[in-house]
Amino acid sequence: MKKFWFILTALVATCFLVACSGSQGVNPKTIKEKKKIVVATESEFAPFEFKSLVNGKDTLVGADIELAKAIGEKLGVKVEFSVMSFDNVLANVQSGKADIAIAGISVTDERKKVYDFSDSYYTSENVVIVKKDKVNDYTSTDSLAKQTVGTQKGSVQETVAKKQISKASVVSLTSNGEMINELKSGQLQAVVLEKAIAEGYIAQNDDLTLANFNLKSDGSDAYAVATRKGSDDLLKEINAVIKETKDSGKFDQWLKEASTYKQSK
Ligand code: ARG
Repeated sequence: MKKFWFILTALVATCFLVACSGSQGVNPKTIKEKKKIVVATESEFAPFEFKSLVNGKDTLVGADIELAKAIGEKLGVKVEFSVMSFDNVLANVQSGKADIAIAGISVTDERKKVYDFSDSYYTSENVVIVKKDKVNDYTSTDSLAKQTVGTQKGSVQETVAKKQISKASVVSLTSNGEMINELKSGQLQAVVLEKAIAEGYIAQNDDLTLANFNLKSDGSDAYAVATRKGSDDLLKEINAVIKETKDSGKFDQWLKEASTYKQSK
């Protein structure tokens, strides 16, 4: 009898732990039953995800948004976007509030310990933006010594900047748009962003330009869809969509289309 109670208690405790940990994988069956997939994303990362006025309505657009829609289509479910600051995106997947995250998320060893990632759908590169009239002053990482460099909060660029522009004071901001404004107004002397995003801001601000020096790759240049650990079946479906969108040239097409939208914030 004692043994019975012991086993029962152990069983209940295990179930409780599993249920509360939120670390169970995301099952495509459950998503199909719910008839929707919740996608955590951010909204100041053109050409991947950003807001634009479409027919007078503020609309989420970009290549990541199209990818999410294609995943929804493949699963036969509605896509519900949950927009938040970038530093909250992954945590929302971990806590179970979102099923997946698509937000230009770079795969890193650190993140792989906590999350499962799909195959990569894009390769990024870190760059430095400076004001045009300062491009001859800031010609190397060392020339930014004692200056203030901006990065997005929660992004891999925080670490990249701290390591590679180590003599500068590196600050993290939640909003990329605000970061660009601070660069323009002189509160920041440089900003580290990924190339596609930087080029978008430079195209819209003729007082900004890419610095004439490069940062080294830190090995985290692949973008992928993130989900909870143990989501193998879901990842199979997502990887099939990624393969198809890459092979058919659809992803490149979405990137091109995104650059025709004007960012509304
Ligand atoms: N690729 C970088 C990272 O994963 C930055 C991503 C920022 N994404 C965004 N939607 N703001 O850390």
